[in-house]
Amino acid sequence: MNTKALLNLQDFERAAARVLPSTLFGFVQGGAEDGLSVAANRRAFSQVEFIPRVLCDTAARSSAVSLWGETWSAPFGIAPMGAAAAMALDGDRAMARAAALENVPFVLSGSSLTPMEQVIRENPRAWFQLYPSADPEQSAAVVARAQACGFGTLVVTVDVPVGGRREDDIRNGYGSPLRPSWQLAASFGRRPLWLARTLLPTLRRHGMPHFENYGGSRAPMISRTATRSHRRDNLCWADLQRLRDGWRGKLVVKGVLAQEDARQALREVGADAVLVSNHGGRQLDGTAAPLAALPGMLAALPGATLFCDGGIRRGSDVLKAVGLGASLAWVGRPMMYAAVLGGTAGVRHAIGLLREEMLRTMALLGICQVAEAATRVRHPFTRSVAAQPSD
Ligand SMILES: Cc1cc2nc3c(=O)[nH]c(=O)nc-3n(C[C@H](O)[C@H](O)[C@H](O)COP(=O)(O)O)c2cc1C
Repeated sequence: MNTKALLNLQDFERAAARVLPSTLFGFVQGGAEDGLSVAANRRAFSQVEFIPRVLCDTAARSSAVSLWGETWSAPFGIAPMGAAAAMALDGDRAMARAAALENVPFVLSGSSLTPMEQVIRENPRAWFQLYPSADPEQSAAVVARAQACGFGTLVVTVDVPVGGRREDDIRNGYGSPLRPSWQLAASFGRRPLWLARTLLPTLRRHGMPHFENYGGSRAPMISRTATRSHRRDNLCWADLQRLRDGWRGKLVVKGVLAQEDARQALREVGADAVLVSNHGGRQLDGTAAPLAALPGMLAALPGATLFCDGGIRRGSDVLKAVGLGASLAWVGRPMMYAAVLGGTAGVRHAIGLLREEMLRTMALLGICQVAEAATRVRHPFTRSVAAQPSD
């Protein structure tokens, strides 16, 4: 589909709902339990206000940022999302390629269906996200592969000790792996275009997709009997330390909301950055919005490299996140929808829209550099460093 008629990132969601089978769309769109965190993530952006300055000569403004010796064309990237190659034809490659062409960061999910060795060829600056296994040897094997094929940054996701409860997935017949059922067949059958343009070409090109980059067995995407464990509730800080010690590149800890955890990850374990995230509201329902947690975290950890995700849909949202302390903001669901609708071109269009919105917002704010966003935002979130038990 030509996505050029889509004017903003929310348009991609509405269009994807008409293209994807409801079982798959529900998985991407959904959140845990009552959806409180999904709603909180969006609400937080409406609580941040801009105070623009006028007559500032912003003709030479730029959305570019530098981090760890690299320059990106914008301070946002594509968050890791599993199963993309089941939703979109060559979905992991499409997102990786689009990010490379637009010069924004991209993180390959540890729950992806494309071997990491192929994705890094599309985008040599891609980052890799690990779901640490309950068994440290399995994690070590995945990490060794990522290191050997040239990933420079490892993102370790720590907010999935067990899978969040997403009841819509149960109602819609979604599972990981997907179980063949009449319900699934009916959901697929109602989307003949998706069948013809995505599922059948995927099967023709690659056969049944498998979870290629997850620790342990290589489970297929659709299976009556195969299982994948989402249980890693035995993990503790020593496991993160082991990963840090074994990884030569940059290490990011994803899924942190508490200041004390951020401090431990950065100052004790030696992580390079923390991605403040509630997994897009897909794990613990009722969590604080990552945006709301940023100011306090920055106050507690001055100079720390913090990233943020959850509910970012506009260029103005990116500037709000940067203004509150994020070095990079990450976008999830809309990029998946963009890959579904338009492959590489669709994702490039989504990135382009977000960047154009940023540049327009910067002119309206009266700033030339992204970092100046901090001087134009007002927010109600507490900066106080909460007293927390230091277990
Ligand atoms: C379909 C889907 C799959 C995801 N898979 C992963 C994953 O494999 N690893 C991970 O760390 N986060 C995963 N996430 C969470 C995203 O990385 C990110 O935290 C979240 O989507 C950001 O919120 P947003 O979708 O509102 O932008 C996934 C999110 C979605 C929507």
